[in-house]
Amino acid sequence: MSNRVIPIRDIRRDKTIPRARVLRAPGEPLRDTRQRRLHDLRISVTDRCNFRCTYCMPKEVFGKDHPFLPHSEVLTFEEIVRLARLFKQHGVRKIRLTGGEPLLRRNIERLIEMLADIGGLELTLTTNGSLLARKARALKDAGLDRVTVSLDSLDDAVFQAINDVEFPVAKVLEGIEAAAAAGLTPVKINMVVKRGVNDHCIVDMARRFKGSGHILRFIEFMDVGATNGWRMDDVVPSAEVIRRIDAEMPLEPIDPNYEGEVAQRWRYRDGGGEIGVISSVTQAFCGTCTRARLSTEGKLYTCLFASAGYDFRALLRGGASDEEIADAIAAIWQARSDRYSEIRTKETARMQKIEMSYIGG
Ligand code: GTP
Ligand code: 5AD
Ligand code: SF4
Ligand code: SF4
Repeated sequence: MSNRVIPIRDIRRDKTIPRARVLRAPGEPLRDTRQRRLHDLRISVTDRCNFRCTYCMPKEVFGKDHPFLPHSEVLTFEEIVRLARLFKQHGVRKIRLTGGEPLLRRNIERLIEMLADIGGLELTLTTNGSLLARKARALKDAGLDRVTVSLDSLDDAVFQAINDVEFPVAKVLEGIEAAAAAGLTPVKINMVVKRGVNDHCIVDMARRFKGSGHILRFIEFMDVGATNGWRMDDVVPSAEVIRRIDAEMPLEPIDPNYEGEVAQRWRYRDGGGEIGVISSVTQAFCGTCTRARLSTEGKLYTCLFASAGYDFRALLRGGASDEEIADAIAAIWQARSDRYSEIRTKETARMQKIEMSYIGG
């Protein structure tokens, strides 16, 4: 782990919104410079989290004195919903709420209701599961379609060494079951695999969730942010994950659910359900990346590995019209050329980038 302390506020630089270029013909989706559509909007609703995962919010950086965003700098629900509507006009069909930990945002159910009122959007949320047992039913009632829960091990010693706040596995499992019982399905479970930390847990995790109806996904450890001390040696390639599971529980590949799906899908040959692997390091998927990301304070990022975003809060609070904001979205998307995972090197891994806990993965 790196013990450099990066003042992350300093790297939240702004990019100048390009002037609107030729807008698309009516009814035609926006395309970026690599012909990728805009389909998903990931909205971070808080930069806070009750975990301190060593690879995401290490305590020595995210300690008591860490400057989290003050309330006045955070987008209000009305501001988020206004942007969501305008993104929908430009083709967005899926919204994922992220954090930090999104269930820490007060009254998140109300935001979900407001987003559900827009209509025509799939609503999903990625959570650490700690508050899910309590909230699953209300989230479903508010209009959430499904959830993804992060869980890196079934072994308390390993899990607690990662979350660094002594949070027990059993409570996350309770959250997963409550989400399934509430109908937030299929529940997906994300396991970030880091060599020497939890890679010995891969087959246990697969066995535990086989036949459960939940979809376990193994994520290659990525060089997001500037504080997680990433090295290529820490990455367990997805091909190795598949080999290890297949040796005990035979697998076969299956087709993606939709173009641009992040996870590659595999199913158990005996009918025990499916798993996924997310291979952003060894098999980059930038070519089909349809995701835009909105930070808690209203900055738009066109890549998870960006070092600067576009300040939409300034537009919202500066009196811009819907048309002006929609034009800004179009101009930014049409100018987009990001493909970080395709050009990653040891050098780029050391560059200053936004933190995962700030932009939500
Ligand atoms: P569904 O297919 O709708 O279930 O969602 P998803 O797989 O897109 O969402 P999820 O938040 O579960 O994504 C899983 C993880 O994949 C994220 O937490 C990131 O670690 C990684 N990921 C998602 N999108 C990207 C991306 O655009 N680039 C990279 N490099 N990694 C991504
Ligand atoms: N590499 C891969 N995935 C990560 N996540 C957080 N940090 C990293 C990283 N460095 C995952 C979390 C969660 C999702 C939001 O992103 O575990 O599942
Ligand atoms: Fe861990 Fe997710 Fe919180 Fe980061 S945001 S510290 S990965 S629980
Ligand atoms: Fe998309 Fe950037 Fe991830 Fe590539 S690295 S898939 S462009 S978010």
